[in-house]
Amino acid sequence: MSQQNKVLITGAAGFIASHLADALLARGITVTGIDNLKLGKRENLASAFKKPKFNFFQADLNDLATTGQIIANESKSAPFDTVWHLAANSDIRAGVADPDVDLRDTFLTTFNVLKLMREHKIPRLAFASTSAIYGVHHRPLTEDIGPIFPISNYGAMKLASEAAISASVESFLDRAWIFRFPNVVGSRATHGAIYDFCHKLKVNPAELEVLGDGTQQKPYFHVADLIEAMLFITDNGKEKLNCFNIGTSDSVTTVKYLAETTVRFASPQAKIRYTGGNRGWVGDVPKVNYSVDKLKQLGWAPRLTSNQAVDRAVAEIVAEINNS
Ligand SMILES: NC(=O)c1ccc[n+]([C@@H]2O[C@H](COP(=O)([O-])OP(=O)(O)OC[C@H]3O[C@@H](n4cnc5c(N)ncnc54)[C@H](O)[C@@H]3O)[C@@H](O)[C@H]2O)c1
Repeated sequence: MSQQNKVLITGAAGFIASHLADALLARGITVTGIDNLKLGKRENLASAFKKPKFNFFQADLNDLATTGQIIANESKSAPFDTVWHLAANSDIRAGVADPDVDLRDTFLTTFNVLKLMREHKIPRLAFASTSAIYGVHHRPLTEDIGPIFPISNYGAMKLASEAAISASVESFLDRAWIFRFPNVVGSRATHGAIYDFCHKLKVNPAELEVLGDGTQQKPYFHVADLIEAMLFITDNGKEKLNCFNIGTSDSVTTVKYLAETTVRFASPQAKIRYTGGNRGWVGDVPKVNYSVDKLKQLGWAPRLTSNQAVDRAVAEIVAEINNS
């Protein structure tokens, strides 16, 4: 078991990282969170703020002086043993429109985190990568498939981040875990198809416009399963550089199912209108064949199928929107 006592989470106020903060705090681990609050929200950290072992700082990771000062101050009582680097631009379409967004928030944040880890002698890194690094492949997407040609700027900057981490493991990190996430869904989402559908239906409860023809299919994964998987991997992944796809191999969800489920929960009278074509937007991969055999072999399997993850997430997000 890889002992974590005191960790830094970047992007802490975001969707996934805020759930991670809750899970690490529940394990009794001391957590410091950093987020520039560009996409994340303080409200996501409501339960974390109730814990004495939690501290939060609003800062941009591209402001090295401020972030370095926070790490130095926070390290005075005890050093950090692990950084969980989840900060990134999570909006793929924003990165297509303006490539600087992914350079700055997806790649340079990783580069800066690595610089700071070297300077402050923090030995272990857990990194949120993505299935978007793979681009379009016709073979099963195993961790060792290659060559890899991402088709979005976001995927390209995540792949570049993985490369920088690999080089850092060679020179100064003791251990790194790279998690390649699928589409993650659940409460506190700041983006994604379910989130978009729910918000579209709030504006127009009579009609839901869906990009594509509804046949695109992807595995969806609930954030609760994701957090469990990441903790399992950090406990059991013993290589110096551990790289794992996380997801469900044998279940996928069509956009049609996603749209119909959202309509059923959020606005049952709404009509669904598909724009046509088999791609929703530039950088969207129409079909994926994602292998999670390596994670299975390590001994972990998800609780929910893709459709179950979608059902649960839609219910959670609709409830959140209704309560806001
Ligand atoms: N949600 C998914 O389906 C999914 C899939 C694959 C990978 N990921 C990865 O998981 C991680 C978390 O994603 P999420 O869905 O929770 O997104 P999110 O947008 O909710 O969280 C990312 C957080 O990073 C913060 N951030 C961005 N740039 C920053 C900067 N320069 N300085 C400080 N903070 C910054 C944002 O404000 C946000 O709170 C990201 O690295 C993302 O790329 C997510």
